[in-house]
This record gives sequence, structure tokens and C-alpha cells, in this order.
Amino acid sequence: MAQQWVEGRIVERIDWTDRLHSLRIEAQIEPFRAGQFTKLGLAIDGEIVGRPYSIVNAPDDPILEFYFSTVNEGPLSPRLSALKKGEIIQVAPKPNGFLVLDEVPPAIHLWLIATGTGLGPFLSILKTAEPWQRFQRVVLVHAARTVAELTYRRAIARIAAAEPKRFAYIPFLSRETADYALAGRIPQAIVDGRLEARAALRFDPAQCHVMLCGNPSMVDDASAALAARGLRKHKRKEPGQVSMETYW
Ligand SMILES: Cc1cc2nc3c(=O)[nH]c(=O)nc-3n(C[C@H](O)[C@H](O)[C@H](O)COP(=O)(O)OP(=O)(O)OC[C@H]3O[C@@H](n4cnc5c(N)ncnc54)[C@H](O)[C@@H]3O)c2cc1C
Ligand SMILES: NC(=O)c1ccc[n+]([C@@H]2O[C@H](COP(=O)([O-])OP(=O)(O)OC[C@H]3O[C@@H](n4cnc5c(N)ncnc54)[C@H](OP(=O)(O)O)[C@@H]3O)[C@@H](O)[C@H]2O)c1
Repeated sequence: MAQQWVEGRIVERIDWTDRLHSLRIEAQIEPFRAGQFTKLGLAIDGEIVGRPYSIVNAPDDPILEFYFSTVNEGPLSPRLSALKKGEIIQVAPKPNGFLVLDEVPPAIHLWLIATGTGLGPFLSILKTAEPWQRFQRVVLVHAARTVAELTYRRAIARIAAAEPKRFAYIPFLSRETADYALAGRIPQAIVDGRLEARAALRFDPAQCHVMLCGNPSMVDDASAALAARGLRKHKRKEPGQVSMETYW
């Protein structure tokens, strides 16, 4: 039987807020594609409890990075958020997942749309050369409740500095306001045209592909709003313009 877990060592822990953290982990896992996830696990009552987590680093970066939220009532995430540098964690050696550019059909514009920790896989994709080889414009949309939860701003600023004409970052805030962020939720801003206006780009089915990640009801509601614009769910056998991954 294939090995289920390998040992990883925490080399860095980033505390963005009380409940949002990143862990950087040294572990020997199989090669992955940007956008994929693997499982992290910890022994709880004598058994390893594992959950999937998207990989944030680029595939050629030897240190794995994961970005997660502490769900107080959950079994694993509060324990992940208590881990310290030097401690050991179990990592599944075989990454998985289809939220990858290999699965995206040809398009001119790429939209990467995330709520909360759904940002992670898009950061990995944006650190690779492929989006810049394949798309004329790339728009990253990140929705969070508060300014403090709009994380990874420095990494995003580096991408913007490298691709100033082709990359746009559009943050959303739902429970605070800031002049640089759109207010409210993503699906409504697709319906009322505010997101397209901010990006100066249309959701044109002949030109764009949209990747959605994070909160399942955002993914459902955004898919419905995009369907009203003629964008369909992408399937290998029936190509469309919307790919998605939900976290619960
Ligand atoms: C393919 C995939 C990739 C994932 N990648 C990530 C990731 O990169 N980062 C991450 O934080 N989580 C990610 N998740 C969710 C993660 O696997 C766990 O479910 C989460 O960390 C909570 O674990 P838990 O054991 O504490 O509670 P669980 O028993 O797993 O979940 C309890 C409840 O917490 C809520 N919840 C779960 N995940 C989140 C979340 N991310 N943000 C807010 N509320 C949540 C849901 O209501 C869920 O029913 C991913 C899930 C899937 C399916
Ligand atoms: N953020 C916190 O301070 C906090 C604290 C303690 C516990 N939690 C718990 O953690 C869990 C996740 O919180 P989170 O803030 O990381 O993730 P989240 O609830 O998915 O919220 C992230 C962003 O997505 C938006 N969103 C939620 N549902 C949506 C939908 N159907 N369509 C479009 N956008 C949607 C939120 O807007 P809205 O604000 O409008 O929902 C917010 O801007 C929740 O169960 C929450 O109770 C959060």
C-alpha cells in the first residue's frame, strides 16, 4: 500500500491574526502542480486526523506553505494553530486536485476569485510562469471580513510590481470599509457589474476563464451569477469557463 504520511518539520509559523495562520513545513512529498492540495495530519487520541490543505508555495520552492483558518469547533485546525517552529506534523506525500492551469482551456483573461483561505492555491499559481505565458490579463479577487484578514498583501504587491499592466488585485471587505476595497460580497458585485467595472474587464464567455475557491456558498452564488452571463462550469468532456474548489 502507498505510504499515507511522511513526517514534516515546521520551519516557520506566520500569525496573520488570532485565527489566521500560515505554516512553512519541510517535508519530502511528491511533485505537485500549482493549485493542488495535500493533507496535513496530527495524532489525536492515538489516530492521525488529516484534512486537505492547499499548497501556497510554488512547485519549485522546497519549503511547503499552508494558509489556514482556526475553526474553533473543528478537531484539527485549532491543533494546527498551536504548533510551534521545530515541531513535527504528518504530511500526505501525494498531492491532489484539479484547480490547476493544466485543466483550464485556452482563454485570454484569467479571473482567480477567492474568499478567506481560498486565496492559497491562487498564490501558488501566480508564483509560476504559466499565467503570464497564457493570459493577457490576470485578476485576483480576495474577499475577507476585515482589513486584517486581507492577508499576503506583500506577496501580492510583488506580483503586481512584476506584472503592472497585466495583473490586477481586487480586495473585497464585508464587515469593514477601506477606500481600496469593494464593499460587500463577490456574487452581488458580479450581478451588479461592480467587479467588472473595477477590473475594467467583462465576464465574456468567449474570452475569460474563472477559477473560484473557498466558501461553498460563495462558489455556488458566484457560479449562478456567472451562469447568468453565459459562463458554464468547466468539465473535461464539456469545456466551460468556470473551475471551482470548495473547502467544506
Ligand atoms: C480540497 C480542500 C482544500 C482545503 N484547503 C484549505 C486551506 O488551504 N486552508 C484552510 O484553512 N482550509 C482548507 N480546507 C478545509 C480544511 O480541510 C479543514 O476542513 C479546516 O481546516 C477545518 O478543519 P477542522 O478539522 O478543524 O474542522 P472540520 O471538521 O474539517 O470543519 C468544521 C467546519 O469548519 C468550517 N470550515 C472548514 N474549513 C474552513 C475554512 N478554510 N475557513 C473557514 N471555515 C472553514 C466548515 O463550516 C466546516 O464544516 C480545505 C478543504 C478542502 C476540501
Ligand atoms: N472572521 C472572523 O472574525 C471569525 C471569527 C470567529 C469565527 N469565525 C468563523 O470562521 C468561519 C469562516 O470565517 P471566514 O471569515 O474565514 O470565512 P467566510 O465566512 O467564508 O468569509 C470570508 C468572506 O467571504 C464572504 N462570504 C461568506 N459567505 C459568502 C457567500 N455566500 N457569498 C459570497 N461571499 C461570502 C464573507 O462575507 P460576510 O462577512 O458577508 O459573511 C467574507 O467577506 C465562519 O464559520 C465563522 O463563523 C470567523
